[in-house]
Amino acid sequence: MALIAPSVLSANFLNLSKDIQLINDSEADWFHLDVMDGRFVPNISFGLPVIAAIKREAKKTLDVHLMIEEPGKFAEDFKKAGADILSVHIEACPHLHRNIQQIKGLGMKAGVAINPHTPVQSLFDILHDIDVVCMMSVNPGFGGQKFIQHTIVKIQQLKAEITRRNLDVMIEIDGGVTLENAQEIAHAGADVLVAGNTVFSAANPTATIAELKKITQG
Ligand code: DX5
Ligand code: ZN
Repeated sequence: MALIAPSVLSANFLNLSKDIQLINDSEADWFHLDVMDGRFVPNISFGLPVIAAIKREAKKTLDVHLMIEEPGKFAEDFKKAGADILSVHIEACPHLHRNIQQIKGLGMKAGVAINPHTPVQSLFDILHDIDVVCMMSVNPGFGGQKFIQHTIVKIQQLKAEITRRNLDVMIEIDGGVTLENAQEIAHAGADVLVAGNTVFSAANPTATIAELKKITQG
């Protein structure tokens, strides 16, 4: 069974409290929070004050996905805002090992996010130092995009390496997860499914979260 992490990027920002409660009361496991800087990705989302406000109401793990340049400058601020897991992009971090040590030193779980074009092999020398791989299955920057099918092969390759080395690293799939492809993604080896559009554009988000969870059992 996979963990489900609804992406708050697709929530109703005019009534965020309602959507936070919805996730609290659902079978969801984590809150996925997408931070964009308009430089690393061609979009700007929300940042520290919004995450701090969410933290005051959220009763589940805050999984913060930084799509920003120089994330090391802000790691401590995200810890203070309430992040439990902090993921940085491999493509934004020339000194990734240092960033990971910083995140862990601050008491957070450390994640590395990779873009669709980045080979999973580029993670192999950091894999034993991290807790989560946030594998992008769309180009980061926007919710509601189509799942890139080649991600399935990448999940299988990464899962094989994690199993071979007996590591404790979760594979999180981010982008384009739907009720139609969730089972295939989980079968390929994903441990966590992020879902924004699929959850929040549904007539019944709570039931959709439960359904996603159930689908990944099979
Ligand atoms: C995209 C973000 C995703 C996004 C997923 O840059 O990292 O987390 O919210 O949204 P959906 O599930 O709608 O593709
Ligand atoms: Zn994300």
